[in-house]
Order: sequence, then structure tokens, then C-alpha cells
Amino acid sequence: MRSYKAKMVEPIELPSREEREAAIEEAGYNVFNLDARDVYIDLLTDSGTGTMSADQWAAMIRGDEAYAGSRSFNNLADAVRDVMGFEYVVPTHQGRGAENVLYGVLLEEGDVIPNNSHFDTTRAHIVNQGAEPVDCPSPASRDPNSNESFKGNFDIDAGYALVEEVGADSIPVVVLTITNNSVAGQPVSMANIRATAEFARDIDAMFVIDACRFAENAHFIKQHEAGYEDTSVAEIAREQFEHADAITMSGKKDALVNIGGFAAMRDETVFEHAKQRAILFEGFPTYGGLSGRDIEAMAVGLREAVTPPYVHERVEQVGELGDMLSERDVPVYLPTGGHAVYLDAGEIFSHIPKEHFPGQVLVCALYREGGVRGVELGEFAFPGADRPDLVRLALPRRTYSREHLEHIAETAEAVMESAHEYDGLEIVEEPPMKELRHFSAKLEPVSE
Ligand code: F0G
Repeated sequence: MRSYKAKMVEPIELPSREEREAAIEEAGYNVFNLDARDVYIDLLTDSGTGTMSADQWAAMIRGDEAYAGSRSFNNLADAVRDVMGFEYVVPTHQGRGAENVLYGVLLEEGDVIPNNSHFDTTRAHIVNQGAEPVDCPSPASRDPNSNESFKGNFDIDAGYALVEEVGADSIPVVVLTITNNSVAGQPVSMANIRATAEFARDIDAMFVIDACRFAENAHFIKQHEAGYEDTSVAEIAREQFEHADAITMSGKKDALVNIGGFAAMRDETVFEHAKQRAILFEGFPTYGGLSGRDIEAMAVGLREAVTPPYVHERVEQVGELGDMLSERDVPVYLPTGGHAVYLDAGEIFSHIPKEHFPGQVLVCALYREGGVRGVELGEFAFPGADRPDLVRLALPRRTYSREHLEHIAETAEAVMESAHEYDGLEIVEEPPMKELRHFSAKLEPVSE
């Protein structure tokens, strides 16, 4: 049962099969090139695409648009202090703005930065500072079929192996991403958060949490980690951060807004430096590239994210979609993560070799079959990386109903039934940077 009802609606339409065929061909078999109005169910991302509450909309009207010292900034600082426990906050236009501000302060050329798994913008900002990002995902994450609970964990052994290799002096920062978006949205346990913090302390590094989906992570800890059954999500959320020196946050995820982000920290010197960098790239440090109303909505959303039953319903809905797909024998990464279901396209299209992008074939097939837009996270998005060809179906928060989920599951089932009819794809046009090719490249079905 849902604890909310719709107060505002947005019409969506399923274009005819002929229109969908034409649209995907026109888009060069790349769903980033589709017009959103040609999409029926949009699962491209959960970032900034959710539905705000009546309280958040009311807060937007209250937004204080003062250039400096706005009341809305104070409200955000209070919310960050109450919900996350950090004294200092620097608002930014979104998560990657926070990465630019914080890592610009903390990193130097030649540094090496371990993370359970870097999200692509985090990786890019670390590289942009002349440092080297290294992923240390837990070995359990490699098995898509094991139902283990915290497959998003940081591999502490891999962390120490890295210290052996490059020396502790090269590692000024250890990062932990909760939940782990690059590993199928899998959560990180409180024990692992503690262990990663100890690892960072042991090598005299700062411990930074990428907090985008912190409330979803707290939910998983409550559900699956011994000793937390009777602890509230709000208390767990705060405990997650007790061990961290700083965080980067995309408000477009667990602060339930369409735009916004921030960096937060405990150290006053880091705060002072971050503010200077924010002025350069984001705006005066009490607005950070946002309007007062955006900041106000983010302050309210942050509190809502840890207030029952929001996050429980949110993660359960993602699980429900995972169950609907599994019941139809669609291969999904197990267990389902916090924000998305990840489909194994390599298994669905086992007749299509990796170099012909089975993941992208699946993304196009879901659109053609049911107007559903997902995103490829395999060979097309990460060229040459040794990873399975997964397709992510990310659910926007508080947006779609069970009928929509059924349509998604039926669409995937129909694709499975005709999987043998699909050919692979090849790239016919691509931008200069290989790392960014999935956003704009054009493809065509492989010619026989
Ligand atoms: N860190 C993680 C773990 C993310 O998932 C994202 C965004 C960011 C940082 C950057 O935040 O978009 O506000 O600049 N992830 C989105 C996604 C884009 O689709 O997963 P941002």
C-alpha cells in the first residue's frame, strides 16, 4: 500500500509500434537521442526525475532568493546537521559540482584514490585533478546470482594491497559510495562502513562518503544487518556518517529534488577552502548555483528521505519490479538494488557477441516493444572493461504505479520471447572521447 496519492499528473503516451520503430532508427539506436515525449515509461535514471511532495512545493514558494546569507541556506544547513551530522555545508548545482569542489581541495597530481566503485562523474573529477581512481568492489559483487546482502561493500584487502603497491603517502582520501551505483545499486553494510573508515584512519587518509543514495542504504542496513532491526532509518542514516570526514551529495537522488547537491565536512579549514572553490565554479557559498527555492526544497526532501515509510516503500517498489521480472524468467542481477533493477543482456542475447553490444540491443528492444527507456551499462558505455552487459532500469522516486511496473515486466517478457530475432549493433558515428560515446554515438544493426 502506498502512503501517498497523486495531486498533480503529467500525461504520458505510448506511441504506435510504427512510430517507435521510426523514432529509434532516427535516434541512431541510442535512447539518449530520443525525445522524451516519445518515451512511455522513462527509466533512464532516478536522478532528478522523481516527484516532489506537497511540502517540498510549498517550501519552494518560501525560498529566499537573497544572494548572500539566505534563509533557505540556513534551512539546508540545519537539515544537513540534523539528518547527516555535518557542521559545514557547501551547496552546489548537483553532485558532480560537489565532487569538483571537494576533490579540487583534497587531491593533488599523482594521488591514488580507492573507492568501492567510482561513479563515472566521480572518476572523471578525480582524473581531472591528476589523480588515479581505483575500484575496490567486494569479490561477492562478481556473482550476479548470489543473494548475499551487502554486495556493494568495499574490499578492505584490495585497499591494503593498493597501499602495498603505491604507498600510503599517495592515498590522501578513501571514498565509499553508498549505495554502490556501479555495482547494481548494491548496499554497503554498517560493518563495512566502519571497516573502511578504520582503513582510512590507519593509513592517515580522509574518509569521504559519496552519499547520493544514503537513505536507501540505511533501509538495507535496517532490513538485513543484525542489530539494526529496531533502529530507525533516521538513526542508521546518521550513524553511517559518524565515521566520515566529508561527503559529496547529489540532491537529485535521496534529497528528492529535481536539481541540487552539496559537499559537507567537519574540518573548518577544508570548509574554508571549499567555499573559495565554490565561488569560482558554483556561486556564492550560500547559494551554490541554485535558486533559493531549489535549496529550500532540498532541505525538506532530505528530512523526508529518512521519515517512514518513504524509503521502505521506495526500495520495496524496486524489489517488486525485480520480482515481476524474475517471475517471467528475465535474468536480473540479484538481489535487486535500491534504485534500479539490472538486467543481464548478455544472457538474454547469448547469440550476440560482446562487440555487437547485447546491452544496447536490449535497450532498443525494450523501447521498440513497449516504449520503455533504460540505459546500457556494458560494453557500449564502458568500452573494453571486463564487465557483464547489464541494462539498468532505474525507477524515479514516487512516480510510477504498479500498472506501470507490470507494463515494464510484460515488455521485457515479450523481448525475451523474440530474443532470437534480434541482431547485434555496430557504431557508425562516435564523438572523440571514448568515455562519453554512449551519450551521443549512433549505431546501426549489423549488416549480414
Ligand atoms: N555519485 C553517484 C553514485 C551517482 O550515481 C551520481 C549520479 C553522481 C555521483 C553525480 O551526481 O548527477 O547530481 O551530478 N548518478 C546519475 C545516475 C546521473 O543516473 O546514476 P549528479
